[in-house]
Amino acid sequence: MKQLIVASGNAHKVEEFDGLLETSGFEVCSAKVCGGMPYVLEDGDTFGANARIKALALRALAPKDAWIVSDDSGLEVDALGGAPGIHSARYAGEGASDLHNLNKLLLELEEQPAAQRAARFRCVLCLIDPSGSEQFFDGACEGRIANAPAGADGFGYDPVFVPEGHSESFAELGESIKSKLSHRALAVLAMRRCLES
Ligand code: IMP
Repeated sequence: MKQLIVASGNAHKVEEFDGLLETSGFEVCSAKVCGGMPYVLEDGDTFGANARIKALALRALAPKDAWIVSDDSGLEVDALGGAPGIHSARYAGEGASDLHNLNKLLLELEEQPAAQRAARFRCVLCLIDPSGSEQFFDGACEGRIANAPAGADGFGYDPVFVPEGHSESFAELGESIKSKLSHRALAVLAMRRCLES
């Protein structure tokens, strides 16, 4: 079976890819098969550029016949001109916790009425095949930022992100709903369609 190695140190992401690529003909592996995900400076100025940096860093350590996939994701808020965007993980400063980032976001949006709180999660995947050819896949999940955090599931901005068509946050809706709607799920499904075609 062909091996698809996920260029991430995050075990949760590997599990998510594994579930979404079940029966696709690929064996999904974590970066551990290459000795672990190396440290990379994510200094690209788009999600795609950062995903590519991670995929290339792992490819240098991977078996020559392996396929590599990486993702980069974040939250874009219209009223903030698309921020935090590629800076989502460090919105409140280098090494900031999810809680600090989320509190900063709520503070920045304090004055904004419900109609001005549109936002989306975005995810871009970079897939590199054994020949070195690169392909990118996008996924987006539209929604809005709530006035206060709610729910205990998930991570990052999940407690304040209410996806379109729902009135509860991702953290309240839980993994079973999130895994159908999320930016990452949509991007992985786009990649799956391409791998199968
Ligand atoms: P990365 O793609 O793992 O680098 O994620 C960047 C940051 O975006 C995370 O640290 C979170 O703050 C945010 N983020 C990305 N995806 C999600 C999500 O599904 N829920 C909540 N926050 C997310």
